[in-house]
Amino acid sequence: MFSAATLRIDELPAEERAVYETLKPERLPQHVAIIMDGNGRWAGHRSLKRFLGHQQGAKSVQLVMETASRIGLPWLTLYAFSLENNLRRPRAEVNFLMRLLKSYLESNVQRMMDNNVRMKYIGRTHELPAEVQEKMRWAEEATAGNTGTTLTLALNYSGRSELVDAFRGLFTEMKQKHQSAEHITEEDIRRHLYTAHMPDPDLLIRTQARCGCRVVCCGRSPIPRYSSPNATGPTSAASICWKPSPDTSSASAAMAGLAIV
Ligand code: FPP
Repeated sequence: MFSAATLRIDELPAEERAVYETLKPERLPQHVAIIMDGNGRWAGHRSLKRFLGHQQGAKSVQLVMETASRIGLPWLTLYAFSLENNLRRPRAEVNFLMRLLKSYLESNVQRMMDNNVRMKYIGRTHELPAEVQEKMRWAEEATAGNTGTTLTLALNYSGRSELVDAFRGLFTEMKQKHQSAEHITEEDIRRHLYTAHMPDPDLLIRTQARCGCRVVCCGRSPIPRYSSPNATGPTSAASICWKPSPDTSSASAAMAGLAIV
């Protein structure tokens, strides 16, 4: 939990401050996860190239990170670049996203320091280009001592790869400990998930979602399920397909999500 001293509500823009004032601080989520979606459509609505939509998405990340820090949110996870994106998108788009990620990190570490934000990653990040991994490590190390919001970027992730990686890790551990399968508990699996070091998300937002069209993992359960508007998850996590107007930033979407909770 954050102490009141770490809140910087007076720094919120007027629109976000107005939303914040309608919230009950004791009911605020501790962990908000956002699936970044709709960059291509944002660009399409303006007859712009998809690349510009991704650039706008990266700007929204800066805003949502800053808002999270101002309202004292301990955990913010952004599902930014999936394994499916990596495998199926045209190479030119993937290369552009990798350059964008690198330049986002280069130009935002100072902002993270100013906002006391700690940078972390989940997913198969070891499969990303070496120079991107190097920049990721640099940003993680530079911000490691910060004690405010932990911003986790999910990169090259998927629900199924997370399960495969968890089972591989657990299998290795079981072999070392000479354990047999019947002793596996839910907690054993949880310890090997990408998110093991964090509390489960209380709120999952998918920006610009086409509701119900894709599977998402949510809450404590790694079991994929379909998201639906305002649906209550298998655990206490709320899952919201937030369909803002194309001009709504992710930051406003996150604030609106908090207001719904
Ligand atoms: C979804 O939009 C977004 C992505 C595939 C990539 C988002 C990643 C970045 C902006 C890279 C940089 C990351 C950070 C955290 C700075 P979409 O293309 O699927 O949109 P659509 O559904 O409208 O086609």
